[in-house]
Amino acid sequence: MTEDQPRVLALANQKGGVGKTTTAINLGTALAAIGEEVLIVDLDPQGNASTGLGIDRRSRSVSTYDVLVGDVPLSEALVETVVPRLTVAPSTLDNLGVELEIAQQGDRAFRLRKAIRAHADTAAADKTGATKRFSYILVDCPPSLNLLTVNAMAAANSILVPLQCEFFALEGLSQLLQTVEQVKKSLNPTLTIHGIVLTMYDSRNNLSGQVVSDVRSHMGETVYETIIPRNVRVSEAPSYGKPALLYDLKCSGSQAYLKLASEIIQRERRLRAANAA
Ligand SMILES: Nc1ncnc2c1ncn2[C@@H]1O[C@H](COP(=O)(O)OP(=O)(O)OP(=O)(O)O)[C@@H](O)[C@H]1O
Ligand SMILES: [Mg+2]
Repeated sequence: MTEDQPRVLALANQKGGVGKTTTAINLGTALAAIGEEVLIVDLDPQGNASTGLGIDRRSRSVSTYDVLVGDVPLSEALVETVVPRLTVAPSTLDNLGVELEIAQQGDRAFRLRKAIRAHADTAAADKTGATKRFSYILVDCPPSLNLLTVNAMAAANSILVPLQCEFFALEGLSQLLQTVEQVKKSLNPTLTIHGIVLTMYDSRNNLSGQVVSDVRSHMGETVYETIIPRNVRVSEAPSYGKPALLYDLKCSGSQAYLKLASEIIQRERRLRAANAA
């Protein structure tokens, strides 16, 4: 782990609607608020992270598709957001074609990793400071274990798994963990699971509490202490093109994402200390 290389966290779960994008946007905003220089890489053809950050279609003339398929440098895809220190590499529906277009190429799984490393190297060499040096890169994955997600896992230091507090929460998790193991064996030997974040917790629903204790008893320390509550302000914010933290900083969802950011930074410090020892 070198100082010049950003920490790359991939938000992955092949289950749809579990809070990957909401977590990417709000964790990204929270990390930026505490002083980190953050990039959100939107790899989902749905482009929800880009839309939720207020990036309209016209500002997506260069997207992550061009980076993955067209060898366009990451810097050309970067778009500033309304949040200071938060940048996004947007996605478009073109990403639906990635699987077919690069399937035959030997480096198909490493496209994102190469782009991120090349950008970090350029930033490190650029004494003018014109090239942004990101400290955190969050990759928002589509709800699938396809080549886009594999690119994210091959580029990542760690995986962050959002898990919705619902009856079938654990279903599908073992398949996800198996994929991580496969990527680790074949593409990225140092890949780790950073943590599991429980989302959309509803305190009025007994089931939510049951899910929390089930997931904690199965997954132990991997599960972050912080739980993201179900909060209507969090779900309204994207339609204003804003992170919840800008839309309503005081709401319980925003406060939970701030807490999650500091928990993640603490885990990172412990990891760094363990690696240095
Ligand atoms: N804490 C929350 N409180 C209330 N609503 C939430 C919360 N987190 C997410 N949602 C809502 O749940 C829906 C799914 O969330 P999100 O888009 O983040 O999931 P996702 O895993 O990225 O979905 P997909 O798999 O389709 O990419 C969205 O409508 C979002 O606004
Ligand atoms: Mg999403």
